[in-house]
Amino acid sequence: MFVMILTAVLCVIGASNAASTSYNVLQFGAKPDGKTDSTQPFLKAWVAACTSVKAAMIYVPKGRYVIKAAEFRGPCKNSITVRIDGTLIAPSDFRALGNDDHWILFINVDRLSVIGGSFDGKGAGLWACRKSGKNCPAAARSITFNWANNVVVRGLTSVNSQGMHLVINSCNNVRVQNVKIIAPGDSPNTDGIHVQSSNGVTITGASINTGDDCISIGPGTRNLWMEKIQCGLGHGVSIGSLARDFNEDGVQNVTLINSIFKGSDNGVRIKSWARPSTSYVTNINYRNIVMRSVQNPIIIDQNYCPNNENCPSQSSGVKISRVTYQNIQGTSATQVAMKFDCSASNPCRGIKLQDIKLTYVDKTKAKSYCKNIGGSAGGVILPENCL
Ligand SMILES: *[C@@H]1O[C@H](CO)[C@@H](O)[C@H](O)[C@H]1NC(C)=O
Repeated sequence: MFVMILTAVLCVIGASNAASTSYNVLQFGAKPDGKTDSTQPFLKAWVAACTSVKAAMIYVPKGRYVIKAAEFRGPCKNSITVRIDGTLIAPSDFRALGNDDHWILFINVDRLSVIGGSFDGKGAGLWACRKSGKNCPAAARSITFNWANNVVVRGLTSVNSQGMHLVINSCNNVRVQNVKIIAPGDSPNTDGIHVQSSNGVTITGASINTGDDCISIGPGTRNLWMEKIQCGLGHGVSIGSLARDFNEDGVQNVTLINSIFKGSDNGVRIKSWARPSTSYVTNINYRNIVMRSVQNPIIIDQNYCPNNENCPSQSSGVKISRVTYQNIQGTSATQVAMKFDCSASNPCRGIKLQDIKLTYVDKTKAKSYCKNIGGSAGGVILPENCL
């Protein structure tokens, strides 16, 4: 059965390639030498593909291409596949990316596939600048999709983004498959994948080690599916932080299944600032998840305030409801393995626990913490159910 489906899929891909027009970036003057600026050749290849009446393919052969901040803008006449066998590298001087907050940006496109490719954001210079407290440009996000619909991102590797690695913003129907993201554990704000204001994003297969959230989920995210995610170093899969602004869209219908966290600061986290907001979080499902030495495996934090500076210390307006935790097992690196610190003015409602088994790596018993929360539990619950 599977082989048949695979064969059918390959035939479809083969057929669409046959009908498409192909543009090799080398024909436009790109140099795979790791030195020559290839930004203009890449942009020219994009314009050719984007104005093609037939489905178009942009091909990037093996080699290293230096690319400055670049905007690949639609709308285009037909679908585009960008097939990358090479590596795109940001200029070694971080200032060359300017202050645009993006490096590679796809904007206002429909039916776009980005297949393969390595992206090296050369973030170390900017991180050092920020650490030194100097005046630094905004961190450029390595790969951003803005206002893009029907997108496939498959087999991409991103290392050392100056800021967030892969951003999906104001998009519909995006499939991210088998991506690998790596940045040092102490690199600031280098989130692996960030999704916001988007509907129908699925992430299947991702291995992510970074200095910030593995996956961060911002306001306006609906129908997000995450499966087979491996989070290592970093801050875990986070919904939020919400209540940054008073008028803010909510997050609904988010699923994370069959995933593993190893040595992360957090596992599954929902966080909001302690200030009034119109935002909400509802219909969230976490299922079949393994935690290995995770600081906070399960956490809702409605008093979020990193570094404890200028904390709003009001009560969070974010309404959290219908969150299910099912079959979550493994070890916690701190004693409180399960922490629900909900808002006094908007208590968490409809929280469900089913088959939780988290032990503290130390020999002492793991604990749970509950505040302003209502819900139910079934099956084995360890640490003790505090709902
Ligand atoms: C929730 O999202 C999934 C995709 O992640 C979708 O298949 C499902 O229909 C959505 N459910 C609702 C109630 O919208």
